[in-house]
Amino acid sequence: MARLIQAGLAGYAIVEIQKAPKPLDPSPNPRSLMHSAFETDPARPAIPIIFATKANWDAISAELPPPGRQFARANEFKAKPGAWLPLPNAGGEIQQVLFGLDDEKAKFRDPFRPGQLPALLPPGVYRFDNVAANEAHLATLAFALGSYRFGRYRKSDPVEVRLTPPASVDIADITRIAEAAALARDLINTPSNDMGPEELARAAQALAERFGARFTCVTGEDLRRQNFPLIHAVGQASSRAPRLIDFTWGDHSHPKVTLVGKGVCFDTGGLDLKPSSSMLLMKKDMGGAANVLALAQMVMDARLKVRLRVLIPAVENSVAGNAFRPLDVFTSRKGLNVEIGNTDAEGRLVLADALALADEEKPDLLIDLGTLTGAARVALGPDLPPFYTEDDRLAETLSACARKENDPLWRMPLWPPYDSWLDSKVAQINNAPSGGFAGSITCALFLKRFVDEASSWLHVDIYGWTPSARPARPEGGECQAARAIYRLLSDRYG
Ligand code: BES
Ligand code: MN
Ligand code: ZN
Repeated sequence: MARLIQAGLAGYAIVEIQKAPKPLDPSPNPRSLMHSAFETDPARPAIPIIFATKANWDAISAELPPPGRQFARANEFKAKPGAWLPLPNAGGEIQQVLFGLDDEKAKFRDPFRPGQLPALLPPGVYRFDNVAANEAHLATLAFALGSYRFGRYRKSDPVEVRLTPPASVDIADITRIAEAAALARDLINTPSNDMGPEELARAAQALAERFGARFTCVTGEDLRRQNFPLIHAVGQASSRAPRLIDFTWGDHSHPKVTLVGKGVCFDTGGLDLKPSSSMLLMKKDMGGAANVLALAQMVMDARLKVRLRVLIPAVENSVAGNAFRPLDVFTSRKGLNVEIGNTDAEGRLVLADALALADEEKPDLLIDLGTLTGAARVALGPDLPPFYTEDDRLAETLSACARKENDPLWRMPLWPPYDSWLDSKVAQINNAPSGGFAGSITCALFLKRFVDEASSWLHVDIYGWTPSARPARPEGGECQAARAIYRLLSDRYG
């Protein structure tokens, strides 16, 4: 070990040789409460939750037993969205719960409104009394998503509110989705000191091993030897070695679906350093990787008929004497010479080498997710990630799946006239066009240069974070795009 250190290899070589076999931890917050959101014994008595809206409240209250109706009137319950009231029986126990949903005529009806219930209700077992058939799936999913707590660093009270799911829903599928969402949230919420490239690789490896996938990882100097120059360049300034995570699962005769996730475990901006206000949330810059792992977990757990491959370039974009610099030029894996216009446009660089590798085996469907641009958030806000594809049928299906799963996505164009904005005066392409117009589109156009052979390519510029809590969406790391894409894959390959 000492010999290697003295050999003066970059700092991360030390990390490599110290790789003691630490116990594998599938998710940093292993059992994320999801399995306890549902009561599986249908014989357990469950308190009925009655949904009401301002419009139908009079009709619903007329059906209540007179003491309950009187109790609701005395408490001035009017079924405002999110309002709730427990109705006691003569013995003072909770007999029913009233809960207000958004009105049919409201400008926006949040299908996840029931996601507030786990945080409101006293411990117990509940059931939906009058959920509409076409709302049962999202209401039940919302309940599970709303049961999530990030408890790694602070003991939070366990949520002891359980739901006996409606008979009509596919509870195995909902549990699968909610557990995957919890994985994505846990990975994102875990701060960078506990979620560096190595820890991210461990989480991926644990997931791969759980489902019998073949796992490999190219680390540190080996990235250069095996021709991943951009991943190496972005990650070289960190004492935590950059790496390319790679696992493959499923029958090789099935259609090839490859997922690529941006795994920037912290984004300082590099030498083009971010101001502190922009850097604050950058632990979430591995949100693409987290969501790719969540999606992979759903695909493998559902045993979809695909040959799945997951690629995650995992790096830390740090500042040091050996950091890559503005106007450096690197030859990418694909052979394109890339000029660095801005070291803060690092996500597209690491994805470029990973996409090039993915493209080499001509996948049937190539999907990448990443927290790539502030411009995406400026254009559409944190809750509506833009997606890009030239496959119109895929775009239409994905939009429908996004609506069905309440995982909103919005198509934006790979606008060909802007492609020339990527021109470099000294190399073949620049990673950060000057001017800054249409930043999310030009990022997508940059990535497109590295994909030629895949039958179909989809790119999603996610935010991966809920800035302030909403029903079923606690503040913090968020599962974005993975649920919509899972629905698409399970409809196609289930
Ligand atoms: N990780 C950021 C993008 C980001 C910032 C996502 C804030 C969500 C919230 C990315 O690496 C980045 O810094 N992009 C630059 C690109 C620019 C330098 C061309 C950006 O968006 O400013
Ligand atoms: Mn950046
Ligand atoms: Zn970034």
